[in-house]
Amino acid sequence: MAKKSGKVFDDSVLVPTHVGVIMDGNGRWAKKRGLPRKFGHREGAKTFRAIARHAKALGISYITFYAFSTENWKRPKDEVDAIMDLFEKYLDEVRDFMDENIRVRFIGDRTMLKPVLQQKMKKVEEDSKDFDSMTLVLAINYGGRDEIAHAVKSIVTDAENGKLSCDDVTESLIQSRLYTEEIPDVDLIIRPSGEQRLSNFLIWQAAYAEYYFTNILWPDFSKKDLEKAVLTFSERNRRFGGI
Ligand code: IPE
Ligand code: IPE
Ligand code: MG
Repeated sequence: MAKKSGKVFDDSVLVPTHVGVIMDGNGRWAKKRGLPRKFGHREGAKTFRAIARHAKALGISYITFYAFSTENWKRPKDEVDAIMDLFEKYLDEVRDFMDENIRVRFIGDRTMLKPVLQQKMKKVEEDSKDFDSMTLVLAINYGGRDEIAHAVKSIVTDAENGKLSCDDVTESLIQSRLYTEEIPDVDLIIRPSGEQRLSNFLIWQAAYAEYYFTNILWPDFSKKDLEKAVLTFSERNRRFGGI
């Protein structure tokens, strides 16, 4: 790896355009240390910042982090409150990414989040919209099924208003109504913590994604682990149904 030239990988490595990360294992990380779960979330937020920056250094164009699912509201109120407080704090810090020319986007149903959080999200998106070194996507109150239901609603509304007919419904129309409208499909999904499932993450966009699973808990996930995932991806043979 020719770090001195400013590049981590040489040109033979195929870096995925869009990486999705399911940030899992915070609770178990804390439990192993005899700490309350919220300490795991705090540590996981630190990992998020380090990995987001390293993604840019590796030449990844889009990275989506799954931070809170539509199902995570089932957790005890004090844990949900602690996670929401962390978001608010880290939204202020997300502004640091702007100094690095990183565009920030949020996906998910925002209407259930605190108004102050929604305002901050909107402001960060607006202020960073022209940045082009990388797009950092945060999935908050995100669910793939919720996203598809939301897309269908918007299409049906247009149909009821006479703006669309049945023949207009194509894959690309549906794609254009997803929260990820302008973001390309995910190429590589990384899930730490030993679980091997999507848990409602990017279910439409992952139709041809490659997966990388590791037993490492998210707070322990390192820059080297990200490099390993990218190198593994680079060796995969993707066929997209062809030969
Ligand atoms: C992921 O870590 C963070 C969120 C889902 C918000 P978990 O909190 O799910 O950690 P484990 O899976 O219980 O270890
Ligand atoms: C997936 O993790 C959601 C996030 C990481 C935000 P979960 O811990 O909620 O997933 P399950 O419940 O193990 O499937
Ligand atoms: Mg979990």
